[in-house]
Amino acid sequence: MDKPFSQACENNRQPIFAVLEPLLADKTSVLEIGSGTGQHSVWFAKQLPHLQWQTSDLEGNHRGINLWLDAYPSANLQAPIALNMLENHWPECSYDGIYSANTAHIMPWDAVVNMIALVGQHLQSNGIFCLYGPMSYSGIITAPSNIQFDRNLRQQAAHMGIREFHDINRLALEAGLVLLDDHSMPANNRLLVWQKI
Ligand SMILES: C[S@@+](CC[C@H](N)C(=O)[O-])C[C@H]1O[C@@H](n2cnc3c(N)ncnc32)[C@H](O)[C@@H]1O
Repeated sequence: MDKPFSQACENNRQPIFAVLEPLLADKTSVLEIGSGTGQHSVWFAKQLPHLQWQTSDLEGNHRGINLWLDAYPSANLQAPIALNMLENHWPECSYDGIYSANTAHIMPWDAVVNMIALVGQHLQSNGIFCLYGPMSYSGIITAPSNIQFDRNLRQQAAHMGIREFHDINRLALEAGLVLLDDHSMPANNRLLVWQKI
């Protein structure tokens, strides 16, 4: 099996890292939810040697993630753990950073609700939660490319679709997470940053 490859990951890793780097400067342990191919993990962990980067995903993606970890090992990069946001299982470790990219529009809405609640329960005080991906605002998706993307997702599977910022932020507030920033990112994406109070 060849390493799985995402061109989007190659394109967005540097802009995402530019936002993450200062936010993670004083953090020690980051959990990535839905590591996907593992490309973000190897790229970010290498540049953040002061912290531990824990990859995770549904088990079906572990083989691919491990291929990337084997090809680009870092002492601070941990092999994937099985984490399904439809379940209430959570790793034993404690994290002061949680990162997830392009997952909220892929996992079912129930899983998004559960993910935010779990993050709120388990993130350390003052820890940060970063969620990257496309969003709608007050029901409106502005970019034509995202309108088409949303249509494609919903045709592919009824449970997928671009999520509403205000719904996610309401869940975050209920979970004790305060919005620090909503970054506009290339290709009509957002990088939302919350802090656990
Ligand atoms: C589009 S990929 C994004 C992967 C990677 N983060 C990236 O930015 O390229 C969506 C990811 O969400 C994960 N995912 C889907 N449903 C999930 C669930 N219920 N719990 C956890 N992860 C899930 C998928 O396995 C996949 O890795």
